[in-house]
Amino acid sequence: MSNIELKPIGVIVGESSPLQSIVLFDPDHNVKPRVGMYVTTETEEGAILGIVESIRAGNPLLPSDMADVNDAWKMSRFRDLPGKKYLRGLVQWLSLLEPLERGEVRSPGLPPIPSSDIYPASRTSLSTIFGPEGKKWIRIGRLLSDETVPFKINIDQLARHLAVLAVTGGGKSNTVCILTKRIVEELGGTVVIFDMHGEYSSMDVPGIINVRDPQVNPVNLTFEELKTLARLPDNAHNQERVLREAWEKVSERRLKDKVQARDIMNLLKEIVRAMIEEKNDSTTKGAARGVLNRLDDITYYYGDIIDGFAPLELEEFIAPGKLNVVDLSSVDEKAADAVVAHYLRRLLAARKEYIRKNGQSGYPVPVIAFIEEAHILVSSSNYTLTRYWASRIAREGRKFQLGIALVSQRPKNVDPEVLSQTNNKIILRIVEPTDMSYVQRATEQMSDNIKELLPGLNPGEAVVVGMMARLPAIVKIDLCDVKKSGSDVSLSDLWMMHNRAKNTPRDVSDVM
Ligand SMILES: Nc1ncnc2c1ncn2[C@@H]1O[C@H](COP(=O)(O)OP(=O)(O)OP(=O)(O)O)[C@@H](O)[C@H]1O
Ligand SMILES: [Mg+2]
Repeated sequence: MSNIELKPIGVIVGESSPLQSIVLFDPDHNVKPRVGMYVTTETEEGAILGIVESIRAGNPLLPSDMADVNDAWKMSRFRDLPGKKYLRGLVQWLSLLEPLERGEVRSPGLPPIPSSDIYPASRTSLSTIFGPEGKKWIRIGRLLSDETVPFKINIDQLARHLAVLAVTGGGKSNTVCILTKRIVEELGGTVVIFDMHGEYSSMDVPGIINVRDPQVNPVNLTFEELKTLARLPDNAHNQERVLREAWEKVSERRLKDKVQARDIMNLLKEIVRAMIEEKNDSTTKGAARGVLNRLDDITYYYGDIIDGFAPLELEEFIAPGKLNVVDLSSVDEKAADAVVAHYLRRLLAARKEYIRKNGQSGYPVPVIAFIEEAHILVSSSNYTLTRYWASRIAREGRKFQLGIALVSQRPKNVDPEVLSQTNNKIILRIVEPTDMSYVQRATEQMSDNIKELLPGLNPGEAVVVGMMARLPAIVKIDLCDVKKSGSDVSLSDLWMMHNRAKNTPRDVSDVM
């Protein structure tokens, strides 16, 4: 440890365990302890590294049960007397330092002895731990406690899935932007972002971005996806039966008569019309009429989505080595559900095929799929087709190098099963207590102290946990300084521009 402070910043008091110690910090030291800071101490096993999880300042001259403000003012004159003010912190021990610098986390077996000195961890050692060299380590930010130390994650571990959680404006999209951009730029990796608000489609990253309209070729559509688009209510069993029967006939006729993709929806309607004519029982006739109405609605509302000219091959839609953005901003939640479920299902099937067929067919590279607004598409309360496929990928995807990343501002509305399958988490500012507890329950390695930090985080500051990080860390995520066309122009600016343009004989485009 080269640049270690010579003077200790604190000393262990009270009872210690191999997991944690209480530390009395020197309030007059020039290095001020703060939450998230890494510290070391010596034990019989060697030096160990820990993180400051909480910190409290106090002064016995000013106890919390004082009742008279004048007394408090009088006492405060003595507050700087040596030995009066104190800083007491809790340090969580994470690993023996020496193995950690080699990349191996080894929990201490012995508690550090009270009276042991505490030092800030050296920058060199932190940089070795958090910013290792090597292709699979991708930088996403810096340690909040020392912004000169880079923070990298192990991309291989993203196959164990990820959740990016925060209040609105907490910095989720920025995190997704930096992560996906670097995965593609530095590793030639393949990502797909299901972009509910069209936030990413305007990213100015020429050469790596592949923006797609939400389109599904009817040849690849499943009955469940068709049913979602047709908005069949859960209890419409007769309509479901009719639609299923008609869809099966479509599949048969398609192969037999070589029906073109663009004619499939018309063929489906033709078959349902025939059912209205031919069926004898009034229930089926009525159900078929209902189905026909719903198919007309599909054509009206989702005519652009079910497209006979949409790419048939998955690789044409989700291009390997690109930052693929499926812009769902123009469609409603039902359509978004059907489209996202469709591509998740095909990705899982195609990755399985690739592995089973030894690379002869299937999708040729690992993929990480980001789902924005996961509380809607992978909801805890409403059944969605996306939830079904996200849950399948969360359970099975790792074997086939298919990772899922859930992004949400309402964690408690995200399906708990899928959320707890995401081994890695980037948790930015969260203020709502139920959200905080929910996130804590779905996250290993999250103590009460860390949970309590969440409301105090600024935009872009995050708690990062999971196997992608060497150790849990509090990180300032790098700013993704990618230009976005038009996205950051405010209402007031636009109104003012308009008024200025009206009052001067110039073209509006001059001002914009
Ligand atoms: N790492 C960061 N460094 C500096 N500023 C940041 C960072 N992350 C986010 N911000 C600021 O916060 C703003 C909101 O960030 P972002 O759009 O990523 O939030 P969000 O969580 O995706 O919000 P929403 O829920 O509305 O989608 C950004 O425009 C940026 O100004
Ligand atoms: Mg966002």
